[in-house]
Amino acid sequence: MNGNPIADLRERAVTVLRANDRGGYTVPAAGLYPFQWNWDSCLVALGWACFDEARAWREIETLFAAQWPDGMVPHIVFHRDDPGYFPGPGVWATGREPASSGITQPPVAASCVRWMLERARDRTAALAAARRLFPKLLAWHAWFHSVRDPEGRGFVVTVHPWETGMDNSPAWDAPLAAVTPPPDLLPYERRDLAHVEAAQRPTRAEYDRYMTLVQLFRELAYDPAEMVTRSPFLVVDPATNAILLRADRDLAALAETLGERAVLPGIRRWIRRAETALPRLLADPGSGLWQAFDLRAGRRIGVRTHAGFLAFLAGLGDDRMADGLESWAAASRFALSSVAPSDPTFDRRRYWRGPVWPVTNFLIGRGLEESGRSRLARRLRRDTAALVARGGFREYFDPLDGTGLGGSGFGWTAAVWLAWVDQPERDRGPDEASDPPK
Ligand code: DGY
Repeated sequence: MNGNPIADLRERAVTVLRANDRGGYTVPAAGLYPFQWNWDSCLVALGWACFDEARAWREIETLFAAQWPDGMVPHIVFHRDDPGYFPGPGVWATGREPASSGITQPPVAASCVRWMLERARDRTAALAAARRLFPKLLAWHAWFHSVRDPEGRGFVVTVHPWETGMDNSPAWDAPLAAVTPPPDLLPYERRDLAHVEAAQRPTRAEYDRYMTLVQLFRELAYDPAEMVTRSPFLVVDPATNAILLRADRDLAALAETLGERAVLPGIRRWIRRAETALPRLLADPGSGLWQAFDLRAGRRIGVRTHAGFLAFLAGLGDDRMADGLESWAAASRFALSSVAPSDPTFDRRRYWRGPVWPVTNFLIGRGLEESGRSRLARRLRRDTAALVARGGFREYFDPLDGTGLGGSGFGWTAAVWLAWVDQPERDRGPDEASDPPK
């Protein structure tokens, strides 16, 4: 500690990543999440890259070492067992080496690789790592665009709320209600509640349905086409699709840099299809906000969550959406709540049903910055800074009073601090530099 609060936080963020390092991969939070999670890991690499580039590249390479032969990259890699988490490798029983879950997660990897390459101090090592990763990234994207969009409609489908990373978002209430736990659902004991208060986590009814889907996929031996055909939960998630479209753009940029021009037409086709299909399928006619689509019920899910604002990250945000974001942000002391405080499903402390998440502030904030909406982006960055300065590197925060919630010593919160919040003054607008913490 050196008495400078910002420098202290920088040091503490580095300490969080080092403490969560298990040798080649970083756990999101000791105890609560003791394995390697897909999108956590890629985003955490952005934090590592600020002080140890070799370690940052290793993080992503370790994740891709668990890629399945068909290109899928699992949402959890169980490098070693840990009885403190449920459901562990024995429950998933995917038969993979290293052991992993059998579903995926939002594909942020290509965007993180591009980010790291463009900022690399050791350009030679970065180019070599990006070259090794490129075919694996391409294979994962190709998997999404074939297995999860078999008819080439321009959007990919999601078969489990865990694949969205936003497990108990109110957007999943209706499609999950249609998942009926079978009488032979295997008994289970949750472990998350040993680490975090029940009021901040998903409910038992939701877990029963999460486990119903896991049991079904295991019975289907994780056959990717069967999972899409048979899953009672089948949605088009705005977050996954916005992140994939953004990642496709980053993959194309990587292909240019690495001289992989032969694959460019195919990637550009994915991009064009998504640019047409996503606004048409997901945009709410009234507000323009992207909302999830329930393919089993055949209708857009009329629930507004912050996932819709990831359209900015995909380069498809517009002024109407920005106005909506502005009033959403104005409704709470700290932005951006995952559900608008005026919404009947808003629950200020329960995981993805209200709290502010530094990681989504970062992703939405990047999109806002890139589209020239710097004032809104600054609001998200400044509020993230204020929340972390008050409550530390927590998983999420109460948008009304700033209380830190969920896991502590959280990897991607520390990474967001290092890679986005704690940037040199020249990177910021003049008003932000002088804003006092709330
Ligand atoms: C959990 O266990 O809470 C995770 O979100 C599943 O990936």
